[in-house]
Amino acid sequence: MSLRTYRRKQYPVYTSTERAGLRRAGRFNAQLMDFVREFVRPGVRTIELDRLVHDYTRDHGHIPACLGYKGYPNTICTSINNVVCHGIPSNTILRDGDIVNLDLTTIVDGWYGDQSETFMIGETSTAARRLVQTTFDALFVGIRAIKPFCSIYEISRAITDFAHPLGYSVVRDYQGHGIGRKFHQEPGIPHYPHQHTKNQILPPGVCFTVEPMLNGGTHQTTLDPRDGWTVRTADGMLSAQFEHTILLTEDGPEILTLTQDGPQEGCRF
Ligand code: MF3
Ligand code: CO
Ligand code: CO
Repeated sequence: MSLRTYRRKQYPVYTSTERAGLRRAGRFNAQLMDFVREFVRPGVRTIELDRLVHDYTRDHGHIPACLGYKGYPNTICTSINNVVCHGIPSNTILRDGDIVNLDLTTIVDGWYGDQSETFMIGETSTAARRLVQTTFDALFVGIRAIKPFCSIYEISRAITDFAHPLGYSVVRDYQGHGIGRKFHQEPGIPHYPHQHTKNQILPPGVCFTVEPMLNGGTHQTTLDPRDGWTVRTADGMLSAQFEHTILLTEDGPEILTLTQDGPQEGCRF
């Protein structure tokens, strides 16, 4: 066998100056989530949340990353109930019992920050609450599996081994991603274990998102042919997601989008 067989994939590795740029972007994105959180309430229209996030981003001199990205029409993604991801803000009113994921991405001095949270609107069902809690915990189970020179496989293995026994499926059609001066770059971070990720090794200095989507029923999804964006569960069951941008340092994972006011590791919803 040639040496080539063993050659490992290389990913963008950031210097300390570049890491400072990534940290600033993550910090602003987190501040933006802190700003919008109190507005995610029964009676609000998702388009109003979109406007609030857009204006706050612009007022601080930064760029809404999703607006116009591959033709995406808005600033944020608002994914309600059986919507897995990429829900487009609209006149839809958030109602008591809904769950909604807000996914925010900004560009700060050329660097991207990307995170999402699922919110429970008013009183939700026990099933919805349990799904949201498990998805939040699954994100941190994934983050805690990250170590210098770990494989991507280990992250997805940890997430799936956590979610499956609790009765949830892990979405396979959408994954985490490298992030930096580009929104989506290498490495792809599947949340479901794939053999080919076993030799994909993460050295200190790589930056990527972890963003597991867990479903109440099947892992399979459908893409809305009318808008080309909205992703739903194939069986109409609930889906939840949480996302953070992670910088892998020599000391382990650093969560760049962790908010002061937002849900901390171990929190109970
Ligand atoms: N923020 C999403 C992610 O986590 C991507 C949204 S792309 C958009 O990667 F165009 F739909 F906004
Ligand atoms: Co992302
Ligand atoms: Co995102």
